[in-house]
Amino acid sequence: MAMDVFKITGPVKLDGTITVSNSKNAALPIMAATILAGGKNILHGLPNLSDIEVMCRLLDSIGCKTEVANDTTVIDTTSVDNPFGDYEIVRKMRAGICILGPLLARCGKAQVSMPGGCAIGYRPVDIHIRGLQEMGAKIELKNGYIVAHSNGGLKGANIFLGGPFGSSVLATANVLSAAVLAKGKTVIEYAACEPEVTDLANCLVKMGAKITGIGSPQLTIEGVKELKPIEYSIIPDRIEAGTFLTAAVATRGRLKLKNCRLDHLMAAVDKLRSMRIAVEETADGCEIACNGHIEATDITTLPYPGFPTDLQAQFMACLCLAKGNSVITEKIFPDRFMHVAELSRMAANLRKEGPHVIVSGVDKLIAAPVMASDLRASAALVVAALAAHGETIVNRVYHIDRGYEKIEEKLNAVGANIQRFSV
Ligand code: EPZ
Repeated sequence: MAMDVFKITGPVKLDGTITVSNSKNAALPIMAATILAGGKNILHGLPNLSDIEVMCRLLDSIGCKTEVANDTTVIDTTSVDNPFGDYEIVRKMRAGICILGPLLARCGKAQVSMPGGCAIGYRPVDIHIRGLQEMGAKIELKNGYIVAHSNGGLKGANIFLGGPFGSSVLATANVLSAAVLAKGKTVIEYAACEPEVTDLANCLVKMGAKITGIGSPQLTIEGVKELKPIEYSIIPDRIEAGTFLTAAVATRGRLKLKNCRLDHLMAAVDKLRSMRIAVEETADGCEIACNGHIEATDITTLPYPGFPTDLQAQFMACLCLAKGNSVITEKIFPDRFMHVAELSRMAANLRKEGPHVIVSGVDKLIAAPVMASDLRASAALVVAALAAHGETIVNRVYHIDRGYEKIEEKLNAVGANIQRFSV
């Protein structure tokens, strides 16, 4: 495992233009869905990230052939002869679970490792399993694997996919991907509405699936006999874009983002405006400017179109420097607060009370050695370090590399001072 660290010297004031990459979290379920159509699928603009590589390895391991050339990823799904999601691969990336629904629909059976533990808290897969069972799948757990059979084909059903924390993004992706080839009509109630799920549904429609209600919590699917391979371009990464917006705020800078869809970031933009930050839409993205003063605000994470849990940590980093007190409440992953201890090492004033964190704004953050724990928590440490006084060392940068393409190059080009070292 590469053990890279970042040395980040601050404070800096970001100024310039960044092009946002395309969405990792849209790409992963779409890559898995190519299993549904035998042939050569061509995906454009996948981000160059370790999670995408892991998904390629997983697809290769079940019999597909993946090939990456520049901006284009070809996934040849002509043969899928090993419907087996190995623990050695799935434990590295939870999104490996995305192959379960497509494999079951294509092969009539699948065996996929239960995903392992995760720094953002306990993440069960019961909703995925329940949804597939409703379509007639027989599923049991054996030796850490989900063993599923479709018993002569999946059947359409009315499926309620809500869980204790609302909708589930990847469970919706799994059940939707399986339903498109099921016999008859499926109605998914309480479907996740995240733009990544919408992108998957649009991609499936392009493959020949019949889906209505796309973007809403009720998806209706008329099963079809077969799907054809596609050529498809993935949506921009709203979380990467949101992370750069917070970097502009924390450094009191100004940034222009290209390849950014502000309509996917309405909850974040609403919060930025209540923090007295100017955000404007442009033809292919947006502009943000922070003129020195950040107002405190309260944030509660919720399923889309609510405020995304994947931006909670980065907004906390900004609010550490706001004037006044903010309360941050996590309603998707109540334990997703690994960054609290690390930000506190940088002189932030934070108090955690169950799923709430009270942020008392301070005048300045002070550099310190810190530990990246998961993807978004690590991004928050980078945001804080850009504004902090001194040299911050961020350890375990591989967490950041899972979801941010060339983050140091992109930020250095707009005024950051980030050096990568191997230790
Ligand atoms: C997706 O994970 C994303 N991952 C996450 O991004 C993101 O944080 C999350 O959605 C929420 O938006 C990918 O797209 C690859 P969920 P997912 O199922 O689908 C509970 C990142 O940083 N739940 O929508 O696994 C669950 O515990 C990552 O890029 C069940 O109870 O999340 C949580 O409380 C991290 N049973 C809530 O639902 C289940 O079977 C929502 O989780 C499934 C989920």
